[in-house]
Order: sequence, then C-alpha cells, then structure tokens
Amino acid sequence: MSIIYRLITVLLFWSAATNASPFYPYAKRQIDNATSPTNGTSSPTNGTSGGSNNGSSSSTSSSVEIFVTSGNLPSNGSAKALFNTTGTLNITQLYKVSEAVNQSLQSSSGGGIVILADKSSFESLSFFLSIVLNTEKAVVITNDIEIGTTVAMDSNSTGRGVLYVGKSKVIFAGDLPPFGVPVGVVGDNLEAYWFYDEPQKSGMFSMNSTLRTTYSNFTNPTLNSEVAVPIVYEQGIASILSSSLGNSSSIGGLVIVSDKVVSNVTTQSTSSSSSTPTFPVIWVNPPGKISWLSEANIPGYAIAGGYLTPVQAQILLGVAVNNNVTSPESIRALFP
Ligand SMILES: *[C@@H]1O[C@H](CO)[C@@H](O)[C@H](O)[C@H]1NC(C)=O
Ligand SMILES: *[C@@H]1O[C@H](CO)[C@@H](O)[C@H](O)[C@H]1NC(C)=O
Ligand SMILES: *[C@@H]1O[C@H](CO)[C@@H](O)[C@H](O)[C@H]1NC(C)=O
Ligand SMILES: *[C@@H]1O[C@H](CO)[C@@H](O)[C@H](O)[C@H]1NC(C)=O
Ligand SMILES: *[C@@H]1O[C@H](CO)[C@@H](O)[C@H](O)[C@H]1NC(C)=O
Ligand SMILES: *[C@@H]1O[C@H](CO)[C@@H](O)[C@H](O)[C@H]1NC(C)=O
Ligand SMILES: *[C@@H]1O[C@H](CO)[C@@H](O)[C@H](O)[C@H]1NC(C)=O
Ligand SMILES: *[C@@H]1O[C@H](CO)[C@@H](O)[C@H](O)[C@H]1NC(C)=O
Ligand SMILES: *[C@@H]1O[C@H](CO)[C@@H](O)[C@H](O)[C@H]1NC(C)=O
Ligand SMILES: *[C@@H]1O[C@H](CO)[C@@H](O)[C@H](O)[C@H]1NC(C)=O
Ligand SMILES: *[C@@H]1O[C@H](CO)[C@@H](O)[C@H](O)[C@H]1NC(C)=O
Ligand SMILES: *[C@@H]1O[C@H](CO)[C@@H](O)[C@H](O)[C@H]1NC(C)=O
Repeated sequence: MSIIYRLITVLLFWSAATNASPFYPYAKRQIDNATSPTNGTSSPTNGTSGGSNNGSSSSTSSSVEIFVTSGNLPSNGSAKALFNTTGTLNITQLYKVSEAVNQSLQSSSGGGIVILADKSSFESLSFFLSIVLNTEKAVVITNDIEIGTTVAMDSNSTGRGVLYVGKSKVIFAGDLPPFGVPVGVVGDNLEAYWFYDEPQKSGMFSMNSTLRTTYSNFTNPTLNSEVAVPIVYEQGIASILSSSLGNSSSIGGLVIVSDKVVSNVTTQSTSSSSSTPTFPVIWVNPPGKISWLSEANIPGYAIAGGYLTPVQAQILLGVAVNNNVTSPESIRALFP
C-alpha cells in the first residue's frame, strides 16, 4: 500500500511540477514571451494590470523604487517608509504594501520595485504580492538593499514574478514553495545569474490561469474588510469544526495542516458532517516540505492545497475572502 501511495504521490508531484515549477521552463510559457505581456487583467480599480510595462522586458531598468517595511531607511533618502516591523506582516499590512507598490507601478515609467522586509516576511509578502500584483516589472523583496537593488535592476529580472533574495544571495520566486526552488543567484561580483533563461511564473499565476482571467479582481490592492483565516493543526479538528468555529461568523476561512501522509479522514468527515463549515477550508502539508496534497485523503468539503504551505494557503484564502469569493468550487478552480 505504501509503495503504491508513494508512487501516486510522486506522480502527482511531478504532474504538479510540470505545471507549477521551473523544471520544464519552455513548454507552457510561450505566451509570456514579450509580445503582449500587459493585457492580463482588467482590474476594477485600475489595479495592477502591469499596463505600465510597455513590453520592454529586455530593456535595462534605470532606477528602482524602494519601500521599507522593516528596519531603517537608507540614509540617502531614496526610499519610502511604510512601517517598521520586525515580525511577520499581517494581512492589513500586506494590503498596505500592495497599495503603495501598486501606486508606484501605475505611475512610474520604468524601473522595478525593491521592498525591504524582515526575513520572516519573505514567504507571506512574496506570495501575497504574487497574487495581487499582475505585472511584468521586477518586484524584489530583500533584507539587503544592495543585493535587492542588484536583482531588481538586472535586465533579466522582469517577467519572473515577485522575487525575494536574502543575504545568502540566493534568489527565490514568491509563487513557488518558499526557499525551496531557487531561480538564480547573485554573484560575488554583485551581478545576478539566472538558472532559467525564460522568465516564467508558476501555473497558478500564469497569464491565462483562472486566477488571472476569472478572478482578476484579486488584483484589487485594497482590503475591503477584516478577514481572519486561522491555521490549525489536524489534531482534534473534528471537534473544533463541529463546535466553536462552525458557527463563528468572524472566521473567513480555515487552513488545516495535515502532517500525516494518509489520514483516515472518512471517520472525521462523517462525524463532523452534521456541521460542514460555512467558510472555505483548505488542507495543506506541513511547512518546510515540498510535496503535493491531493483531494484523495481529505473530506469532501475541503480544498486540497497542492504544494502550498500553510502560510501561502492562508494568504490565498484571505485574498479570496476579501473579494467575496468563498465557495470551495471557486477556490479549487484557482489550482492549475
Ligand atoms: C516568442 O516566441 C516565438 C515562438 O514561440 C519566437 O519565435 C520569438 O522569437 C519569441 N520572442 C521573443 C522575444 O523571445
Ligand atoms: C486586450 O485584450 C482585449 C480582449 O482580448 C483586446 O480587445 C484588446 O485589444 C487588448 N489590448 C491590447 C493592448 O492588446
Ligand atoms: C482607469 O484608467 C482609465 C484610463 O487610464 C481612467 O480613464 C479611469 O478614470 C481610471 N479609473 C479609475 C477608477 O481610476
Ligand atoms: C509603448 O511602446 C510603443 C512602441 O514601442 C510606443 O510608441 C509608446 O509610446 C510606448 N508607450 C509608453 C507609455 O511608453
Ligand atoms: C526600526 O526598528 C528598529 C528596532 O526595532 C530600530 O532600531 C530602528 O531605529 C527603527 N527604524 C526606524 C526608521 O524607526
Ligand atoms: C496588524 O498589525 C498592526 C500593527 O501591529 C495592527 O495595528 C493591526 O491591528 C493588525 N491587524 C490585524 C488584522 O491583525
Ligand atoms: C542609496 O543607498 C543605497 C545603499 O546605501 C545604495 O545602494 C543606493 O544606490 C543609494 N541610492 C541613491 C539614489 O544614491
Ligand atoms: C540576460 O540578458 C542578456 C541580454 O539582455 C542575455 O544575453 C543573457 O543571455 C541573459 N541571461 C540569462 C541567464 O537570461
Ligand atoms: C493559455 O493560452 C495559450 C495560448 O493562448 C494556450 O495554448 C494554453 O492552452 C492556455 N492555457 C490554459 C491553461 O488555458
Ligand atoms: C478508517 O475508518 C474506517 C471506518 O470509518 C475504519 O473501519 C478503519 O478501521 C479506519 N482505519 C484506520 C487505519 O483507522
Ligand atoms: C470577484 O470576481 C468573482 C468572479 O468573477 C466574483 O464571483 C466575485 O463576486 C468578485 N468579487 C467582488 C468583490 O466583486
Ligand atoms: C462583499 O462582502 C461584504 C461582506 O459580506 C459586503 O459588505 C460587500 O458589499 C460585498 N462586496 C461585494 C462587491 O459584493
């Protein structure tokens, strides 16, 4: 049994990987090759459709705009301070960042964006901005302004989605498993080197993904209402769901972390089926593990989180709920 299961897991992972990761850089990405990268969305708020990138994805960015969410402003005063937090940014703060960055993307003619952030915010901020910003411009999150600026100004950084790079100089993409799949490095000569020639985004964020076509309003950079999407671990979830959370109107969604590869959810789902939650519930793998969670082993009402980490799933749900997209079917459709 476990061998077959492992085989299936591997197959699922690879089928996911072909859509969602850079292992096959060319097959699916022809549309991104610079002919019309700007026509992805028509955001209701004139959001972030990347309309300011005039197909000039190979021109060198002459300047970058710098935003600071953590730490000190660079002394030469070229940066905009948003806030000074050492911890992880919460959803309110994430939306504040997206409003500011979006404004800059709309107004500035060239150049990329550098966002100074604490390392603990890399995962959430980069995944959040991957959803909310639909742009070909370079958006680089970093805790080292020099390294981040290097990446943002590199002529090959455009079209790769939101990137983050720390003091280790390894460049990661915000739409992939966090710190899992490097897309490039910054050399000791302070130049960026890319592992893949073709810029690309994972399947969920590609130009004609459901997210970009049907749910283009997810690029609305403002927070409509306070949404709470807690993360809970699997233990005791049946009783939690059937009691407190099931009736709670303040919960916008729920992320359940399943640390067992195969869990006997049949019993759980039947015992709690009397109170199928009124909010979307997404099941994910524990953090720090690259794998794929499928529908096979979760209750019928739940959404399978694929490769998403708990924090990524929490952000995806938060954005969906913020846009009044709450039905499990709509959220399942976001997965490639
Ligand atoms: C775009 O793709 C087409 C074929 O898929 C290719 O002929 C063309 O050179 C590409 N353009 C760029 C700018 O890479
Ligand atoms: C964007 O797409 C719409 C519909 O597909 C099309 O009518 C319009 O001409 C496109 N605009 C540009 C600038 O390509
Ligand atoms: C959206 O952009 C168009 C053209 O740039 C402009 O005419 C319109 O007023 C904008 N709408 C909003 C809500 O900003
Ligand atoms: C976009 O590019 C076209 C042709 O390359 C140019 O004529 C036009 O002025 C550009 N628009 C902007 C806003 O840069
Ligand atoms: C940000 O916070 C850190 C430590 O909390 C502090 O040392 C620093 O001066 C603050 N920066 C600004 C611009 O307030
Ligand atoms: C987010 O953090 C800010 C600053 O710490 C706080 O004022 C705000 O209430 C928080 N929002 C939520 C939804 O937790
Ligand atoms: C501002 O300072 C940072 C680091 O101190 C430097 O990388 C950047 O080039 C400077 N910007 C300008 C406009 O001087
Ligand atoms: C970076 O861009 C230059 C031209 O702008 C190109 O010659 C080079 O091959 C690119 N390198 C990578 C790794 O994409
Ligand atoms: C995306 O668009 C391309 C070309 O328009 C098409 O070949 C491809 O099948 C589309 N992908 C999806 C997932 O719809
Ligand atoms: C799973 O649940 C079924 C009935 O709901 C039960 O018969 C079976 O023994 C359970 N399996 C395990 C491994 O607990
Ligand atoms: C966002 O778009 C989806 C799909 O079109 C729609 O169901 C939803 O109501 C929209 N949300 C808002 C707040 O308009
Ligand atoms: C989204 O839902 C909130 C709360 O239920 C409601 O106030 C708001 O009007 C809705 N927005 C749209 C566009 O449906």
